[in-house]
Amino acid sequence: MRVLGIETSCDETGVALYEHGKGLLAQALHSQVAMHARYGGVVPELASRDHIRRLLPLIGQVLDEARLDRFDVDAIAYTAGPGLAGALLVGAATATAIAYGLGRPVIGVHHLEGHLLSPLLAEDPPPFPFVSLLVSGGHTQLLEVRGIGQYRLLGETLDDAAGEAFDKSAKLLGLGYPGGPAIGALAERGSPGAIELPRPMLRSGNLDFSFSGLKTAVLTRVRKAMRDGGFAHEAGTPDPERLDALDPHFRADLARAVQDAIVDVLVSKSVAALEQTGLHRLVVAGGVSANRVLRERLFERIGAAGAGHRVYFPAPALCTDNGAMIAFAGALRLARGEGGPPGNFDIRPRWPLPEISAA
Ligand code: KG4
Ligand code: ZN
Repeated sequence: MRVLGIETSCDETGVALYEHGKGLLAQALHSQVAMHARYGGVVPELASRDHIRRLLPLIGQVLDEARLDRFDVDAIAYTAGPGLAGALLVGAATATAIAYGLGRPVIGVHHLEGHLLSPLLAEDPPPFPFVSLLVSGGHTQLLEVRGIGQYRLLGETLDDAAGEAFDKSAKLLGLGYPGGPAIGALAERGSPGAIELPRPMLRSGNLDFSFSGLKTAVLTRVRKAMRDGGFAHEAGTPDPERLDALDPHFRADLARAVQDAIVDVLVSKSVAALEQTGLHRLVVAGGVSANRVLRERLFERIGAAGAGHRVYFPAPALCTDNGAMIAFAGALRLARGEGGPPGNFDIRPRWPLPEISAA
C-alpha cells in the first residue's frame, strides 16, 4: 500500500510517499522559516496562506520523483493536530479533497505520533518497548511506548517546551528564529561553565520539566551585560539591534550555558525514565533531537548505563517537521484497519497524545 503523507501543522509544508515493504519512495519539504524570520516567530495567518500555495506543487514534485501517477496512491494521511488551526485545515481539506477525487481512504494522524515513530524509519529501527523523549517546539514529554498506539505519559513540561526555551533564549540574545540551531552554532564558541544557569526541576523527584525560568535567567544576564556595557537600563525585552553590541564572548558563553542547562535536564530525566520503567532503549524525536550536544551527551550517558542500553535518533532530516513521518504513521494506522472513506474532516489544534493511546 502506497500512502501519501501531508504535514502542515506549523511552518513546514511536508509531503512524502511511503510504501509498505519498500519504505520511503520520495519526499519534499518547503520551510517557511525565512518568511517568518523577520517577525521573530511563526505568524499563523501567513503560515496557512503559504501552505495553500505550496502544497499541490509539492505533491506533484513527490509523485514525479517517485515516477508515479496520482492514481498509484492508495491512501492519504494528513496531520490532524495538534498545531495551528488554519494551517491544519489546509492539509486536512486538501487530503480529503484528493481522497474524494481518487476514491481512496484517508486518515488523520497525530503530529506527535509522527515524530515519535519517525526513528522507526531508520535502517536499524528500535524494537518495542522503549522510552520516548519527544522534544519539539511545542512539546517536551517522556513516554513509555509498548507498541503502536500504546503510549503512557511518564512526565512532561509544566510550562515552556525545550524547543521554546531555545527559541525564546535565542531571541533575547538577538539571534534569529528558529533559535535551536542558532544557539547550537553560537554555543560552539562558548566556554563551558563560564556562566551558570539554573537547571529547573532537576531534582524534582519526578519526570516533569519546567523551562520557563530559563528565559527569565537569560533576560537577567542580558540586562546586566547591557547595563555594564553602558546602555541605559531598559524595561522589557532588550532591543535586538543593541544586542549586537554585546561582547561576543559573553553571547557565546550565554548560548553555551543555555544549551548546557537544557541538555543537562533532558539527559538526566531520560536516564531516570529508563531507571523507573526498567527499559533499556531511549528513542529521541522532535526538532530538538537534531541538537548535536544532546545527541553526544545521550550517547555517552545511555551507552555507559549498562549492557543492552541504547539510544536512537531519527535521521537528521526527519527530526524537524516533515511529511515522511506522517505518511509512515498513517501507513501503520491504515494497516491496523483505521482510517476510512473521506467524509467530514476534523482537526484537533489541541490534542493530548495519550488520548490516542490504547495503553
Ligand atoms: O518538531 P519541530 O520541527 O516542530 C514542532 O513540532 O514544534 O521542532 C521545532 C523546534 C524549534 O523550537 C527549534 O528551535 C528546535 O526544534 N530545534 C533545535 C534544533 N533544531 C531545531 N533545537 C536545538 N538544537 C537544534 N539543532
Ligand atoms: Zn513537530
